[in-house]
Amino acid sequence: MRGKKFRALTAGALSAAVLCTAAANPVFAVPAVDNKIGTVSAADEDVVFFTDFEDGDVSMFSKRGDSDTSVIKAIDDDKAPSGSKVMSVSGRDKSWNGPSMGLKGVLEPGVKYDISVKVKAAWYNTVCISLQHTPAGASEPQYTNLVKGVSQGEYVELKTSFAYGAEEKDVSIYIETWGDANDLCIDDFKVTLSPNNMDPNAPSLKDVYGDMFKFGTATTVSELAPKSTQDLIRKHFNSLTAGNELKPENVLDRAACLALAEEGDDTNPQVTLATAKPILDFARKYKIPMRGHVLVWHQQTPMWFFKENYDPDGEWVSKEKMLKRMENYIKNVFAAVKKDYSDIDFYAWDVVNECFTDYGKPRDEGFPAEANNYEASPWVKIFGDNSFIKPAFEFAKKYAPEGCKLYYNDFNEYMPKSDAIVKLCQEINADGHYIDGIGMQSHLNVTNNGEKDPFPSVSMYRQALEKFSKTGLDIQVTELDATVNNKMYDLQAKYYSDIMDALVEYKDYISAVVVWGTTDDQSWRADRDPLLFNKDYSVKSCFESIVDGIEYTTSAPPTEPESESQSQTETESVSHGTGDLLYGDANLDNNVNIADAVLVMQVATNPDKYEVGKSELSITKLGKQQADVNKDGGVNNKDALLIQKYKLGLIDVLPYTDTTK
Ligand code: GLA
Repeated sequence: MRGKKFRALTAGALSAAVLCTAAANPVFAVPAVDNKIGTVSAADEDVVFFTDFEDGDVSMFSKRGDSDTSVIKAIDDDKAPSGSKVMSVSGRDKSWNGPSMGLKGVLEPGVKYDISVKVKAAWYNTVCISLQHTPAGASEPQYTNLVKGVSQGEYVELKTSFAYGAEEKDVSIYIETWGDANDLCIDDFKVTLSPNNMDPNAPSLKDVYGDMFKFGTATTVSELAPKSTQDLIRKHFNSLTAGNELKPENVLDRAACLALAEEGDDTNPQVTLATAKPILDFARKYKIPMRGHVLVWHQQTPMWFFKENYDPDGEWVSKEKMLKRMENYIKNVFAAVKKDYSDIDFYAWDVVNECFTDYGKPRDEGFPAEANNYEASPWVKIFGDNSFIKPAFEFAKKYAPEGCKLYYNDFNEYMPKSDAIVKLCQEINADGHYIDGIGMQSHLNVTNNGEKDPFPSVSMYRQALEKFSKTGLDIQVTELDATVNNKMYDLQAKYYSDIMDALVEYKDYISAVVVWGTTDDQSWRADRDPLLFNKDYSVKSCFESIVDGIEYTTSAPPTEPESESQSQTETESVSHGTGDLLYGDANLDNNVNIADAVLVMQVATNPDKYEVGKSELSITKLGKQQADVNKDGGVNNKDALLIQKYKLGLIDVLPYTDTTK
């Protein structure tokens, strides 16, 4: 039935995919059948949802709440990219008004999806696909802009990938604009499974550099949602930074601050780690050491933090009051960490971030905004200069968890500001040891505007290393990425390799090298492919160039933490006794979902590879029993297909032994 495109297309596409799992990477491999549904052919074998609105059905989409004035309906459009009908969104009053699709019960949590859609704004506007999601424990939703494009009254295609976590609430994907709230037309809305081509046999970065320094990455809650990303991080990295979630804007709890201010104390900012919870839980579960980022910064810190009565429109507070707020803020953050996450090894924390212009001057005073290119500093506004840095380190030293080293972190650290950084550290440490190290962000560029003109040059970068190594302080590379235009990946590989060679040369002064993200598509500089892994988790040539030629010892592939494998064994014995199996749950996560079907297909294609201990993705004895949903004694593609049918509601119970269908 055309109205039920989600089910019909998925079932067709998935069963076609299952027929072809003999391909090398059998995660929903390309089917060889011509199975046209709408204007999408079954060559789009991974499609889980598609509509071109030709049947006039817009029922999967709704406006975003009561105050959204949008009117959503199917209309004819002679410019429709496919067929004649599109979804029209008129009557929008605010730029955030627009069509939204709830994801719970439609798409699986923990799975990475690709999305593409064609959007036309009535006149010039920036159109955007965004994700609304409320992390467990948080009271406010988060809004993540996934991808933007400019429509000039014509259709523009937006493409990106996304995922959400099992514990997130109210998850929806929606289309909005950045400027006017003009009318929109939308066509060819498609969601597909994002392919996973992670190479389980690639050398692990943390092994390769294990004798020299930690090798880390940064992640965000949404980036970490897919299990596939978690697998990649567990394999390669032994340091984790929260990309946004431990920044003041996410840690400061305004409601609690206001409540305390009501009682007369507006100098004790209250904090919450709720937004960071999924990342902290992940680090704890897999024992991955963390870098805290960041306490004092001019950006991503709410205006109200600096104002009387925590009112963004209020007066700036005095220096004295801000010092008290700063001390209590730092104290409360560390207290929350010690209370709830004392078992995470927070081995480093960026106390202060980005206080200098490229030429080593303090920032201008003000609040970061478009007009000042987001460069003004509210800290400078209140303190008049950079004199807030020293107390920040004094407070951090006083309250930080034991063993947590404290860093001054900055970008363009190879520019003349490097001298100012060295001087700052020396001055602050003159009467004590407050700063443990210098964080070199290292947001580098292999090409500039398409020209083969790297910035910084490798020698310029090496000079900064030399300068910092002489301070006696530790060095950490905290946010490494290196952009490249026009997919000049060979050039990028050479540059990455030269930079790593320089870091290896200074290894005695460096305790961690952290890349700012995992796969290119999730990077803040995604338009210029700056990272080590492709969107499908396969390694890039810059990954190969930095692991080539280094001798290292391989560690065992990551396994589930002991308590978990123990509980699996326990479940196994209970299940054997009672016959109480959860059929379909091949990966033993107590759910039956697409991830199980994918695992079953992989096991069916290459049984040896997925034995426990041989790969990060593996299937236990109990997993095999539960995967055999047609009870024919084996784990095969028929089981994968049945699991998918069950998920799609085409069969009601598992196991399913009706051989007539
Ligand atoms: C700076 C900050 C990081 C991050 C990047 C951009 O480098 O230190 O926290 O915001 O910008 O993603």
